[in-house]
Amino acid sequence: MSTDLTSDDGPQAIEVLRARGPRSFADRLTDLSNGASLALMISLGHRSGLFDAMAKLPPATSVEIAENAGLDERYVREWLGAMATGRVVEHDPAIGTFVLPVAHAARLTRAAGADNGAVGFQLIGMFGAVEDRVVECFRQGGGLPYSAFPRFQAICAEMNWASLDAALLRDILPLVPGLTDRLRAGIEVADVGCGSGHAVNIMAETFPASCFVGWDISATGLTAGRAEAGRRQLANVRFEERDAAAIDEHERFDFVATFDALHDQAQPDIALRGIIRALRPGGTYLCVEIGASSTLADNLEIPWAPAMYAASCMHCVTVSLGAGGVGAGAMWGRETALQMLADAGFATVEVRRIARDVFHDYFLATKPT
Ligand SMILES: C[S@@+](CC[C@H](N)C(=O)[O-])C[C@H]1O[C@@H](n2cnc3c(N)ncnc32)[C@H](O)[C@@H]1O
Repeated sequence: MSTDLTSDDGPQAIEVLRARGPRSFADRLTDLSNGASLALMISLGHRSGLFDAMAKLPPATSVEIAENAGLDERYVREWLGAMATGRVVEHDPAIGTFVLPVAHAARLTRAAGADNGAVGFQLIGMFGAVEDRVVECFRQGGGLPYSAFPRFQAICAEMNWASLDAALLRDILPLVPGLTDRLRAGIEVADVGCGSGHAVNIMAETFPASCFVGWDISATGLTAGRAEAGRRQLANVRFEERDAAAIDEHERFDFVATFDALHDQAQPDIALRGIIRALRPGGTYLCVEIGASSTLADNLEIPWAPAMYAASCMHCVTVSLGAGGVGAGAMWGRETALQMLADAGFATVEVRRIARDVFHDYFLATKPT
């Protein structure tokens, strides 16, 4: 009888379930260990191209899959063991073949675009690589520099690229009343903490009459942003190394945005004061932040909350403390963000959500006229 029994499987199944008794915490730990291990294997499947290769193959042996993906068969065979027992791929023991079901390929391959959930699993390996140093931070306090996370910009860009393509023009910019028309007419825009700059490049390409600047402290991110702007032949966007805590502009911009870039700042309050100073009177600041409460108890039912607190612990809090900052963390919550926006002097702040994005709050903050 199947190991995935439910009471819907009939009276015999109900008997078996009753005999098994309630699942213990030890069972749950086994599940967690399997889930965590599969997470790393899913990251490997993405990075090695195995999911992409399997999606194009009929049921195939480990030799055929390895050959097709251009990889070492011994490693591929072991990976397939994890994938088959983890029910990510299907295995036919009679003929020794493996297949990636179509429904799984739709969530694990590059062809899936914004639906490719495998991309985010790369974070697990990135966090594992700094575990020793984070243990030391737990003991001694302090944090780590961004340079401790060499793949951070690449993973972040890969995670956000397809979702920005899908949502920026269609869902996000229209949240600000009249913004699309003003962008079409020509305004000054800054993206603070722009990372690899995909958001600002999309806007620059779509609105050639407007001028855009992307600021970040990451040379890797800025180089990637400039390269994309070059490929797209954009003349209306610049990328500059600029610390958000040292914005010394006065009433220059009509629209400023931060995408997931405020909570891990060393000094988000100082960054906000710089942003409001840099905005023209009546200008808009769009602040995209993780959509959670500042009260832990209110986040208990958010399905992705454990992953977000973990990412915050391993990276967001760590880099902020590493720069001598406040360590706000990804789950600092909307109440804290709202208070900080009010303290910075924004006249009105509205919190909006979009259907396509379960992870974020969109704060629309207006500078007083
Ligand atoms: C989570 S990433 C988000 C990047 C990008 N906005 C995106 O959505 O992909 C946060 C970004 O903030 C940048 N950052 C952190 N502290 C900064 C500071 N003091 N000044 C400017 N940028 C900063 C980081 O380098 C990183 O690129």
